[in-house]
Amino acid sequence: MTRRLPTAPPPSAALVTGASSGIGAEIATALADRGHEVVLVARRRDRLEALAGRLSRPGIRVHALPCDLTDEAARRELPDAVAGLGLEVSILCNGAGAGIAGDFTTAPVERQVDVVRLDLEAAVDLCGRFVPGMVHRRSGAVLNVCSLLSIVPMPRMATYAASKAALLSFTEALHAEPRPHGVAVTALCPGTVPTEFMDLAGLGAAVQRMPAWALEDARRVAERGLDALARNRRVAVSSALYGAAVLSLRSLPHALWLRALRSGSPFPDGWADVPADAGSRALARSSWGS
Ligand SMILES: NC(=O)c1ccc[n+]([C@@H]2O[C@H](COP(=O)([O-])OP(=O)(O)OC[C@H]3O[C@@H](n4cnc5c(N)ncnc54)[C@H](OP(=O)(O)O)[C@@H]3O)[C@@H](O)[C@H]2O)c1
Repeated sequence: MTRRLPTAPPPSAALVTGASSGIGAEIATALADRGHEVVLVARRRDRLEALAGRLSRPGIRVHALPCDLTDEAARRELPDAVAGLGLEVSILCNGAGAGIAGDFTTAPVERQVDVVRLDLEAAVDLCGRFVPGMVHRRSGAVLNVCSLLSIVPMPRMATYAASKAALLSFTEALHAEPRPHGVAVTALCPGTVPTEFMDLAGLGAAVQRMPAWALEDARRVAERGLDALARNRRVAVSSALYGAAVLSLRSLPHALWLRALRSGSPFPDGWADVPADAGSRALARSSWGS
């Protein structure tokens, strides 16, 4: 049976970032299926509006709020935009994310900093804007989408792994704070999910070479994350396989991990396929807001 998330009565809603594709879109879909009103946030307005149209049904309204989350001023406007819809955020899912694969020095520094802004700063910022209201209402839930790479440093994805590591640390600490006030906080750590993320990071070909059993389904990842949030778990993974991977990586000294990577990368051929503009395309979509 699906557990209920700790939410205030209407007019409360779930705000999901990264809702225009992949895991974020599946989280939004699962929340609407569980009866929550949902606010969809990402840059691509057309995608958000199409999803809102598909998910809206009698008694469930789904709204599109396009926003570039690397833009601090745009993030600052989100609470007022949500209030303008007559809603309070009682569930926050920070799903937006992007990565740059390839040596750190090969991508422009502005792109590397944008990864930190999107994957870490935006999630912390939105927690800062919406969690105090949840604490005040003594009810709420936060799902931050981290990564298996939150646990170990990752050469050739250094900025992404560092941002996700900080997000995991932040989320685990936050889990302990508003708990007495009825607010659940969970870090979801997906492993490898074949979404646009992989193509945009330049890892699409590498993912195609991975065995099917190693790939996770985005909807299943979303459902497992929401189930874990309903139970107020600190960290969630989508399967026993990835649970074992998290446990082993957590106990592995970084020196041993980095040495192991030198003798065999998880993407041995894939790294060679990384185009020069990998990651830049994910972070510099021209179509946002159109
Ligand atoms: N796929 C995996 O294997 C994997 C593994 C571990 C963790 N994750 C994490 O899971 C989360 C979802 O990724 P995904 O795999 O579902 O990838 P995805 O399909 O590429 O989704 C990424 C989402 O982030 C949004 N986004 C990107 N830049 C943005 C910006 N500047 N402002 C607002 N929204 C922005 C994108 O929408 P727009 O382009 O429309 O803005 C999109 O909705 C990410 O945090 C990722 O790091 C993924």
